[in-house]
Amino acid sequence: MRQSSLVVVANRLPLDDNAAPDGACEWRRSPGGLTSALHTILEQTPATWVGWAGGLGPAPALPDIGSLRIRPVALSEAELRGYYEGFANSTLWPLYHDAVEPPVFDRDWWETYQAVNLRFAQATAEVAERGAAVWVQDYHLSLVPRYLRELRPDLLIGFFLHVPFPPPELFMQLPRRVELLSGMVGADLVGFQRPQAAHNVAQLAAKLLAAQATDDQITLADGRVVRTGAFPVSIDVAEMQSLARRPAVVTRARQLRHDLGEPRRVLLSVDRLDYTKGIEHRLTAYSELLRDGRIKVRDTCMLQVAVPSRERVDSYRALRDRIEGEVGRINGEYGRVGEAAIHYLNQPFDRAELAALYRTADVMVVTPLRDGMNLVAKEFVAAREDGAGALVLSEFAGSADELQHAFLVNPHDVDGLKDTLLRAMRAEPADLRARMGAMREHLRGHDIIAWARAYLSALDHSGRLANQLPPAGGPKPRGAAAKARAIIPRSRSVARRRPPA
Ligand code: ADP
Ligand code: F6P
Repeated sequence: MRQSSLVVVANRLPLDDNAAPDGACEWRRSPGGLTSALHTILEQTPATWVGWAGGLGPAPALPDIGSLRIRPVALSEAELRGYYEGFANSTLWPLYHDAVEPPVFDRDWWETYQAVNLRFAQATAEVAERGAAVWVQDYHLSLVPRYLRELRPDLLIGFFLHVPFPPPELFMQLPRRVELLSGMVGADLVGFQRPQAAHNVAQLAAKLLAAQATDDQITLADGRVVRTGAFPVSIDVAEMQSLARRPAVVTRARQLRHDLGEPRRVLLSVDRLDYTKGIEHRLTAYSELLRDGRIKVRDTCMLQVAVPSRERVDSYRALRDRIEGEVGRINGEYGRVGEAAIHYLNQPFDRAELAALYRTADVMVVTPLRDGMNLVAKEFVAAREDGAGALVLSEFAGSADELQHAFLVNPHDVDGLKDTLLRAMRAEPADLRARMGAMREHLRGHDIIAWARAYLSALDHSGRLANQLPPAGGPKPRGAAAKARAIIPRSRSVARRRPPA
């Protein structure tokens, strides 16, 4: 068994399986914020990635990606339902996102969540060198830090939560709250997107675990010290900048605008089709602006990209039906022949097409009801080499802490959202340029490598881990996974496939 000094553990691998046209299995880069972010770092850092490959049954053997080794973890159909679709995405996901959709508490899912977390911990213990650092990612794997500490006390263990951590009064609803919190604080360092999350965890650790806790340190009842802190995640800024500057992407952006009928203003949203993203509130605001005559279809057009996500989970299917009904209603009521009010695309796109979409937009509308970070907002800023374009950004996205020069908005306040959309559409070019310049300046110093460096330096003060990372912002040789096709049609992947009718 080959072992590594750095092991990353995440639900999804950076590669996903996909049937090629001839029926053979083809491996392509996985979509999603977490995998894109980590893949950029690890492609150039000697490490092992432990994760699920997106299919069912025995884990396939997977090749290395550059210097990155892959250790797949198998999931059965029942485990996919109980662990991923159930406890992770129907209990924790809604609970951690302010319960904007009611969390489901199903006692059977807990057993499966524990069993799968233990399997991830065992797989990690096998591939970690003595004294290695292990970096566990996200809410799917909250119990792994504790299991791993029991299996391998020699390891240095980090945990990073990509999604928000809820206020104590919400977390207290969770029937398995003590076990879950104990699982996370099995780590030496627990990282969050925003400082408020560390504060919430400190309060809960004091209440539920009888710990001594401040916002950056928790001393457990047995005396072990766990450090906590905020490490806002970012994107591969250099990659998005270089994509957006490609002549083919610039030409494609012009073509898209032409295909949209050369409206004066293009509003763009790019989301996973998720109830946390505020798509329905946004559609209401847009349709009321049309109804009130404050915008006209021939001047303004809205492009809503909503990539399919977690399609076997009831709440996601219901959301899709509601959104598609509403888009149909708005187009029926306000569209004209050859002039749709909303262009709705329920498809994945490759990175170059996304860059072209970002360049086409006059106003990027990112209005989640709650979001850990929202990397799409950062991708839009990175793509705007031309310094133009307005970003309308929810106060409830983690990225709002950093992108303070956006048009910040409370998406629950539909009147406020309408006014902010209009302000962004009518803003002076000089104002937009100044805002965009400030946001781009911030991103230059805060890319994905800077994030990994900050986290790994806090985990391992010797600097050994951080020194293995490529330089922030520098040109990077691209490895095998980057060359692999950039996107997977989600509909073909088991976890995303629509259930039989
Ligand atoms: P989340 O992690 O909740 O999905 P983020 O905004 O942080 O939200 O990350 C979403 C990631 O998925 C971004 O990197 C974005 O570019 C990518 N993405 C979103 N929509 C699409 C799409 N239609 N096709 C391909 N990738 C997409
Ligand atoms: O950002 C939260 C997250 O769950 C990530 O872990 C993941 O990359 C993304 O959303 C997409 O979700 P899924 O892996 O369920 O398709």
